[in-house]
Amino acid sequence: MPNHLPVFTVIALSLLNATAMATEVIDSTGEENFVRYCAACHGDGGRGDGPVATAIAKPVPDLTGIAARRGGKFPRQIIKNAIDGRWQIDAHGTQQMPVWGFEFWISEGAGDFSEPRVDRILDGLVDYLASIQAP
Ligand code: HEC
Repeated sequence: MPNHLPVFTVIALSLLNATAMATEVIDSTGEENFVRYCAACHGDGGRGDGPVATAIAKPVPDLTGIAARRGGKFPRQIIKNAIDGRWQIDAHGTQQMPVWGFEFWISEGAGDFSEPRVDRILDGLVDYLASIQAP
């Protein structure tokens, strides 16, 4: 982990802790978790038009166009890793998106037993994204 967390990670972390009390993240559908954690930037329908999008240094991608941007293919593992974020190399620049794999790992108890739960949450999100791809 970097020595100082990006400011959005810190904001997201406090949001995550607040909402995790109300509903278990792991028991929510991918769509529910998307609305809860992703829509602020990516928009309710994933089109990159969330209320916070204009405050982000980088353009927020339209997630309904993941497949369209890749010749009609939806590469599950690459998308899952992009959401997870823990495997990105720091030297490649400041990541604009919170490191969700880390956020969910914390919310799921921060132990060895947390990893399969993080995996399930990420899979739910990837399933949801696969379901909203534009034709
Ligand atoms: C703080 C704003 C923000 C939030 C919240 C956010 N994202 Fe992102 N997302 C971005 C930005 C900006 C990018 C472009 C890449 C980058 O800068 O990291 C991105 C990129 C992505 C990509 C890669 C798209 C592609 O075509 O390669 C995926 C997938 C994604 N986000 C999914 C999610 C999911 C799922 C969540 C919720 C768990 C989420 N994002 C929450 C800002 C955000």
